[in-house]
Amino acid sequence: MQNVIELASIRKEYRLQSLLEKDVNANPINQFKKWWQDAMHSQIDEPNAMTLATCTRDGKPSARIVLLKAIKQNGFVFFTNYNSKKGKQIHDNPFVCLVFFWKELERQVRIEGTIKKISKKESDEYFSKRPVESRIGAWSSPQSKVIKNRNVLEKEVLFFTKKFQSQHIPRPDNWGGYILQPNLVEFWQGRPGRLHDRLQYTIKNKLWHIERLAP
Ligand SMILES: Cc1cc2nc3c(=O)[nH]c(=O)nc-3n(C[C@H](O)[C@H](O)[C@H](O)COP(=O)(O)O)c2cc1C
Repeated sequence: MQNVIELASIRKEYRLQSLLEKDVNANPINQFKKWWQDAMHSQIDEPNAMTLATCTRDGKPSARIVLLKAIKQNGFVFFTNYNSKKGKQIHDNPFVCLVFFWKELERQVRIEGTIKKISKKESDEYFSKRPVESRIGAWSSPQSKVIKNRNVLEKEVLFFTKKFQSQHIPRPDNWGGYILQPNLVEFWQGRPGRLHDRLQYTIKNKLWHIERLAP
């Protein structure tokens, strides 16, 4: 019971900033870019780390961290293994959600929408800019599969390092980017007394609407 009491007493007051209708951009991507600039210029380690939630066809959820690699006017881009658990869930169910938590700014952003693969050309471009070890890693790791031990992985790394020695390392077909195109974006700013600001953007007939949600 001691643990429960200790945990229950963790409590923080949020006092840094407010989020008012008059201050936000009419487009959520532009508003995200504003907050992104703040995150970049704060002391946050890996501000581009975000939780990605996916679901099976029959609605069983799964979540993990991935890194945001581009903010485009039509969505948010990250890279992964298309045959991974997330890749399979995305294939079966394109409705996904992203969450950022920028603790130092007392901010959270929730982004919901549908997801699709980016073009092979765009994935190639990004893959070619990754460090050699990461490119070899993409070939060597059957992401999300059960492997017998770490040796299996190290052997694969040796194999592909030799195979591509001083050669161009192409992108594996099963590795590339996705873009999440949002239909809902919620910006959350912590406020004192748990009376947080929450502004939610939803799209109707290609127009974004902003509504305030109760905290
Ligand atoms: C900080 C951080 C960043 C990560 N970035 C990525 C990423 O960009 N792409 C990726 O595939 N996995 C990334 N991972 C690993 C994933 O969280 C996850 O373990 C992996 O993608 C397999 O997930 P899945 O089995 O649900 O498909 C990251 C993990 C952490 C902790």
